[in-house]
Amino acid sequence: KVEKYIKYHGLLCPNVMCSEDSLKRFEGFNMRDDDVIAITYPKSGTVWMQEILSLILSGGDFTTVHTIPNWYRAPWLNSVPAALVLENKPSPRAMVCHMPYHLMPPSFFSSQAKVVIYLARNPKDVLVSSFYFHQMANFLDDPGTFDEFLEKFLAGEVFYGKWTDHVKSWRNNDLGDRILFVTYEEMIKDLRGVLKRFLDFLGREMTEESMDQVVSHCTFSQMKNNAMSNLSMVPRDVMDHEKSSFLRKGIVGDWKNHFSPDQEKKFNTAIKQEMEGINAEFPWD
Ligand code: PPS
Repeated sequence: KVEKYIKYHGLLCPNVMCSEDSLKRFEGFNMRDDDVIAITYPKSGTVWMQEILSLILSGGDFTTVHTIPNWYRAPWLNSVPAALVLENKPSPRAMVCHMPYHLMPPSFFSSQAKVVIYLARNPKDVLVSSFYFHQMANFLDDPGTFDEFLEKFLAGEVFYGKWTDHVKSWRNNDLGDRILFVTYEEMIKDLRGVLKRFLDFLGREMTEESMDQVVSHCTFSQMKNNAMSNLSMVPRDVMDHEKSSFLRKGIVGDWKNHFSPDQEKKFNTAIKQEMEGINAEFPWD
């Protein structure tokens, strides 16, 4: 039996994306000062960030988002493709990563550039998205029932560990103004406004017309139809696209269709307890 996960300092990483070699390369990764990296807990909008960052760094040129799959354009930093493509890629490079703060490679901490965008999403919607993803992704454990998966999620027995540990690790950083915090909910509400924040943060400019085009290209429906962004090219034995789409619903609040009142209470209590004392406001209950 092939193991589904490989452990990195105790953290579960999916074997199909990571290998001992890719994790070794991740540890020794040579970060450049003008690299741009989006950090997410899984199912918080990573592929959305890949799309936006690709377009920001290309200055609004749409060629790559129509011709190159997102895992090459803005690779998951500890994945096998990252190890293959990033080393020889010209600057500025975009990348994404699910690792908690303390497990980032040494060169990440020595780099002085403004590089990090941390995207968070309502953990209840993350859980729902992850539940369906575990059904379609054959490289993850079967989620069982929703109730069973909720328990596993709260216990952190899922890929990349506990949601609360992830968010807390990145909130407690020493990065000063190198990090920008945004939420999935803000992007749903006002993608153009968030794009403007990204541009300001990264010290980049874009014409009003290009910004409109980027916003239109990055809508859920456009991305769902773009084979370079929707992961439909991933083979069936890795992701069963009949069971669920990678770009599944793309909405805020789908948790209301899945949680019972008891489950909501239990979830809220557990998250609230673990987030006690953290200095952050989130746009969800
Ligand atoms: S992964 O596997 O961790 O990289 O997944 P990730 O990309 O972080 O999260 C997938 C969810 O993000 C939604 N998504 C979007 N929502 C709105 N608009 C756009 N453009 C968009 N792109 C991706 C995607 O649909 C998944 O959420 P759910 O709730 O399952 O639909």
